[in-house]
Amino acid sequence: MPLLELDGLRTGYGAVPVLHGVSLSVEEGETAVMLGLNGAGKTTTMISIAGLLRPWAGRIHFDGKPIHGKDARELVEMGIVLAPEGRHVFPALSVQNNLRLGAWPKRRDAGLVKRTMDRVFEVFPRLLERRDQLAGTLSGGEQQMLAIARGMMASPRLLLVDEASLGLSPKLAQEVFETMRRINRDGTTVVIVEQNAGVLRIASRAFIMLKGQIVYAGAGEELRRGGELRKAYLGTPD
Ligand SMILES: Nc1ncnc2c1ncn2[C@@H]1O[C@H](COP(=O)(O)OP(=O)(O)OP(=O)(O)O)[C@@H](O)[C@H]1O
Ligand SMILES: [Mg+2]
Repeated sequence: MPLLELDGLRTGYGAVPVLHGVSLSVEEGETAVMLGLNGAGKTTTMISIAGLLRPWAGRIHFDGKPIHGKDARELVEMGIVLAPEGRHVFPALSVQNNLRLGAWPKRRDAGLVKRTMDRVFEVFPRLLERRDQLAGTLSGGEQQMLAIARGMMASPRLLLVDEASLGLSPKLAQEVFETMRRINRDGTTVVIVEQNAGVLRIASRAFIMLKGQIVYAGAGEELRRGGELRKAYLGTPD
């Protein structure tokens, strides 16, 4: 049974449809990647899964249970956490306090929060160095890391990351992908939205979204090797 399953998901904004029947599934323990051009509907898919946008039609199942229509808060408690596009850290709070807020769903388990914080600082040593710095004064790349790290603090079963490497240098992007791999190895199922095909290196499964539909679903490795395939859908051979 897949951990996450979308079946014929349709939604949009106001009266304007954006997703025209999106179906995909992700098994527990996988790292899945969704690629696609600007405006394809990737963020719309992520926020629909996270309960921030209501589906018009179709079904979303998490761990075999229907979750469409549940609100974001309930979904966080169930283990679905979104690191949203555009960083969204709390600028006036320190790095450490941003992380503490991320641990809100696990607030009753102080031991777990402490262990997760230690782990977060292990995978993001930069955040450890800057733990007392106000988040608003971090560099763009560091804020990106903090947004992902804050998602980790909730110890989610499913971590959705919308644009893991946007605006990062190639070196930093690889660092963040490597971190995502570690998070996955720790047992978290990960879905990453990306424009950088370099992420395929860490993907067990890949999807390409085009104009509100999934036009390719397959093994990450297959897409990594398939330059023609990527070129056809993404306009880039590398
Ligand atoms: N709040 C909104 N109100 C109206 N239209 C929206 C809203 N958010 C997104 N859209 C539209 O929905 C479509 C899909 O947007 P979405 O943000 O899901 O794309 P995306 O694949 O994440 O793109 P990008 O790679 O640029 O982040 C776009 O045409 C966009 O203009
Ligand atoms: Mg987007």
